[in-house]
Amino acid sequence: MNILLLGSGGREHAMAWKIAQSQKVEHLYIAPGNAGMANVGTLLPIGVNDFTAIRQAVKDYSIDMLVVGPEDPLVNGVADYFADDISLKVIGPSASGARLEGSKDFSKAFMLRHNIPTARYFSVTADNLDEGLAFLGQLKAPYVLKADGLAAGKGVLIIDNLAEAEAELKNMLDGKFGAASKTVLLEEFLSGIECSVFVMTDGKHYKILPEAKDYKRVGEGNTGLNTGGMGAVSPVPFAQGAFLKKVEERIIRPTIDGLAAENIDYKGFIFFGLIEVNMEPYVIEYNCRMGDPETEVVMLRLKSDIVDLFEGVAEGRLDTRQVEFDTRSAVTVMMVSGGYPEHYEKGKKITGLENVSDSIVFHAGTKFSEDGSIVTNGGRVLAVSSYGDNKESALKRSFGNAAKIHFDKCYYRSDIGFDL
Ligand code: AMP
Ligand code: GLY
Repeated sequence: MNILLLGSGGREHAMAWKIAQSQKVEHLYIAPGNAGMANVGTLLPIGVNDFTAIRQAVKDYSIDMLVVGPEDPLVNGVADYFADDISLKVIGPSASGARLEGSKDFSKAFMLRHNIPTARYFSVTADNLDEGLAFLGQLKAPYVLKADGLAAGKGVLIIDNLAEAEAELKNMLDGKFGAASKTVLLEEFLSGIECSVFVMTDGKHYKILPEAKDYKRVGEGNTGLNTGGMGAVSPVPFAQGAFLKKVEERIIRPTIDGLAAENIDYKGFIFFGLIEVNMEPYVIEYNCRMGDPETEVVMLRLKSDIVDLFEGVAEGRLDTRQVEFDTRSAVTVMMVSGGYPEHYEKGKKITGLENVSDSIVFHAGTKFSEDGSIVTNGGRVLAVSSYGDNKESALKRSFGNAAKIHFDKCYYRSDIGFDL
């Protein structure tokens, strides 16, 4: 079959790498992709939100399956846009399912309706500001303020001081994050270790994928600003056995059953951002897509044919498929542009990729320059990903290979996995 994958990050390169291994694939197209993905498929210069151009490509290239990487087109309704095309299998939820990520107000209310453990919260708009301030006053520091809508990963503020939290609440309602913060969620702060669990679902059945932990802070020792993710590790020892069983019983199953009970069409991935507090799992957030850089390790550990799993999803028969994990460890180390997640420069020539051995380098922000060389094109640039018999040996490979790659002002954390 012919597959069109939407996206251009390390997540999509890892998915493309995995999809390309399937015997079921005739041709893989990627829109818009990046320089690294040119090795695994044909790049099409189409933006992920340009639904008209995507429809044309589906026709021109006889696409049988559309796999959606990022959240934006899902929240914007790409699955609904193609709902009339019954011969096209779409991997990604409808806009109503994507509200699990696209509206934190919706996802919190959903969790309450289905008794899914999460932090206590209150939803504030300009109309109930006084009640919001009263709720905030009852919480203990630090204060968690979240924009309801998508805010490019920046919509969560964690503030130590009450007066500052009150001021920020007003700033957010006044449009600090545009329309995304016209509604703001105030949450009780949960203290614990975070990890991510992923499932693939057809809306009724689900399969749990390998879990992962990502390293969100830019600095070593988990310090400094939040980023999209500086590295990831799988497996996560504490997130298995009894803990995972609780996650499945109290979180995963009620979520899938809740979607079905509310007639929400959901065929795709659910990313559960979890926190463990005194051995008990709570949901920090849902995402309606895979994580980045978590996908770069999850795809390494997924042994089963992903296209066969996608077919199970599309047919509503995921219960007939098996998911097998590679027992080895997988890690990824993100090489980023100096200055990221704040200001950074693009267009820096990347050298040394040909010297890499025993790691898989997934590209994120890269592109071909006019002379055909590969240059940086974003904050996160390359995800140096490796297997190992344990996390230590995998990390040794990734760090060793990262040291062989160079671009001006490149930076990576050399302590990924330090706390596991
Ligand atoms: P989110 O975008 O909802 O994942 O939030 C971003 C980050 O903020 C999370 O990964 C957590 O580290 C932190 N966070 C969010 N909500 C809470 C909470 N209720 N308690 C503690 N930390 C939180
Ligand atoms: N790595 C976190 C995310 O993809 O949202």
